[in-house]
Amino acid sequence: MEHSTSPTPHFPMRFKQKVAIVTGAGSGLGLLSAQQYAHEGAKVVLVDVNADAIATAAEEIQQAGGEALAIPTDIRSYEAVSQVVARSVETFGRIDILANIAGGNPHRVCNCPGGFEDMTQEAIDWGIDVNFTGPIYFSHAVLPTMIKQQGGVIINLASVGGVVGGAGAVVYGAAKSGIIGLTKSLALTGAPHGIRACCVSPGPVLTREAMANIKTPLGRAATPEEVTKFILYLSSEDAAMISGSNHLIDGARACGGYR
Ligand SMILES: NC(=O)c1ccc[n+]([C@@H]2O[C@H](COP(=O)([O-])OP(=O)(O)OC[C@H]3O[C@@H](n4cnc5c(N)ncnc54)[C@H](O)[C@@H]3O)[C@@H](O)[C@H]2O)c1
Repeated sequence: MEHSTSPTPHFPMRFKQKVAIVTGAGSGLGLLSAQQYAHEGAKVVLVDVNADAIATAAEEIQQAGGEALAIPTDIRSYEAVSQVVARSVETFGRIDILANIAGGNPHRVCNCPGGFEDMTQEAIDWGIDVNFTGPIYFSHAVLPTMIKQQGGVIINLASVGGVVGGAGAVVYGAAKSGIIGLTKSLALTGAPHGIRACCVSPGPVLTREAMANIKTPLGRAATPEEVTKFILYLSSEDAAMISGSNHLIDGARACGGYR
């Protein structure tokens, strides 16, 4: 008796023939999203400053029979972002999904402990440039291709901190609030062309062990899969009527009591 090979019944191949650019694909939610898009048939462009991590991830996707292109990129450079878009179209012919996932809290990433008043200018700039300006650059750069195609989806990663704020996390909160606003205006801009934009705002996610210490009313942090499954749902045709909205995955943290 012949055994069926992939796709397994668990993966409906929602993204066959689709092309997805994923930023922050070197680790955490970006990496997992890229792997899951590929698992469901998408051709994936992996973008990150961590060249080794995306090279390894692309190789693994290819070894599993998928198509992937790793492009080491600092999303703070508009020129670099434009080149990613040009290479993606050159290689795969189209862009159906842009997942703006690269980002992070500048206090952690820039090794800048303390509060807002203790931040270096470098950390402030990193917080805005990676969390906010990079997604604007990428959205701007992919839009002409999506308009030409009369279709596409942009997924932006914000945070519960962009909804309710966070003591000390002033720059991160400001950048993530901006992402929620960016999503609304992108949705209105893209709608006449069949382009959707959606925002996902997680509370603590276990991409790092330390996130387990951040409380939610549900008593735990989210698993990375709980977030990426929703990112993939929003990217799919099942979510064809969802655009412009922000979706909290935070175990009711934004409802108060744990700020
Ligand atoms: N993990 C959480 O608890 C949590 C909660 C809320 C929101 N988020 C958001 O989700 C997204 C992913 O979080 P994560 O936990 O997977 O983070 P992560 O640190 O695991 O991954 C972020 C990736 O972005 C890449 N990156 C950093 N600077 C870059 C740059 N200039 N250009 C290109 N790539 C760059 C890093 O190399 C890294 O691979 C972020 O936007 C984050 O703010 C995460």
